[in-house]
Amino acid sequence: MNARLAALLGLAALALTGCHGPGSESTADTVDTAPDTAPDTAPDDTYPYQRLSTWGLFEGPLVDQQPAADVVPYEVAIRLWSDGADKDRFFRLPPGGGITIDGVDDWTFPEGSVLVKTFSFDLAEGDDATRVRLETRLLVLVNGAWEGLIYRWNDEQTEANYLVAGERVEMARTDADGVAYDQEYLVPNQNQCETCHRRDDVMHPLGPMTRQMNRVVDRDGQSVNQVDWLAGRGVFALDPGPGAALDAFVDAFDPAQDLEARARGYLHANCSHCHRVGGYSGNSGLYLQAEETDREHMGICKVSAAAGAGTGGYTYDIVPGDPDHSILAYRMDSVDPEIKMPELPNLLPDYEGIELVREWISNMDGTCDP
Ligand code: HEC
Ligand code: HEC
Repeated sequence: MNARLAALLGLAALALTGCHGPGSESTADTVDTAPDTAPDTAPDDTYPYQRLSTWGLFEGPLVDQQPAADVVPYEVAIRLWSDGADKDRFFRLPPGGGITIDGVDDWTFPEGSVLVKTFSFDLAEGDDATRVRLETRLLVLVNGAWEGLIYRWNDEQTEANYLVAGERVEMARTDADGVAYDQEYLVPNQNQCETCHRRDDVMHPLGPMTRQMNRVVDRDGQSVNQVDWLAGRGVFALDPGPGAALDAFVDAFDPAQDLEARARGYLHANCSHCHRVGGYSGNSGLYLQAEETDREHMGICKVSAAAGAGTGGYTYDIVPGDPDHSILAYRMDSVDPEIKMPELPNLLPDYEGIELVREWISNMDGTCDP
């Protein structure tokens, strides 16, 4: 047996012996375990588990996504646009394990950690009684490496099943005025996780970093700083100190906040996983991390490396004061697969994000003319 397989089985054993392992999940409605007629209730004891419920991450009906006692919910300051999906996020640390924070970037998780993100839509916009769960994504730290897994929810919303191939989903929705429309949504395939989550050939979580986590959240009816709340739950190996003293992104869509900080934070959260050194589009030379200070790498008066349709006939990624001639705004607004940014896997532009980035460019001083 190779080391990797051994580690996988070790992880499975850990989950099985945990107090929220699958054993504690067998309830009255899982009596019929015949695999051919009831795949959702067949035995599932090898990693990667075929069913989301086997992970033991949730209590009560799976659809409610109520975290088990050892599962911690969290929110990020600036969301990643995913065609309007609502997201619920959680993590589970192994017993005794803690997160370490160094520098501005990633939080480091211990072996056996599981990060969870569930994607849902209200079929009637704004009516959460019509909510459907589409997919739940996991990142699991196995043998020192993060692995991405996808679970696709069934129509009955009773279970989500392991999916490798990706899927095109059709949703019949109604807008706020009750007008019906169809929306297509792409569940990515497992290889596509790497496009965003891998840099310098290593998979990384993207949300858990101080600036994204250091925000106010509601917990038990109180508004609290999330870093302080997490520290209170004992998730850190070393106390990071009060959240108020740490870096934080502003709310990108709060007009009362500084425009520059809003736009740079937005681009960081939605683009910098690819647009950074070592990222998937690192060799385009466009670096959209909020801490980037080089104006050309930020795209200002940067001649695009892309040619043809990808430029819309314009020259520079950003022309100060002129969003209409800025390739960056042009590509965010496109639905053409050859042009649109982010490259994968959205089908709909993020109009709120586009408006923010255009406003930011409009307010820039200077010109690209020599
Ligand atoms: C288009 C880029 C992109 C793709 C493709 C992508 N992710 Fe992510 N993912 C992100 C970003 C950015 C975040 C952090 C922001 C958030 O939580 O929404 C994230 C967050 C997550 C999280 C929560 C923990 C974390 O890293 O912040 C999980 C779990 C996750 N992704 C799993 C997956 C899996 C599994 C796949 C492949 C099926 C995948 N992702 C594909 C960009 C992507
Ligand atoms: C999933 C990875 C991915 C994400 C996320 C992504 N991009 Fe890109 N981007 C690429 C790749 C690959 C290229 C280079 C090939 C091309 O031009 O199509 C590129 C090129 C570009 C270029 C041309 C840069 C140049 O100077 O040549 C612009 C502008 C751009 N992206 C803007 C954005 C913006 C704005 C976002 C976020 C809203 C974003 N991208 C998110 C993958 C990504």
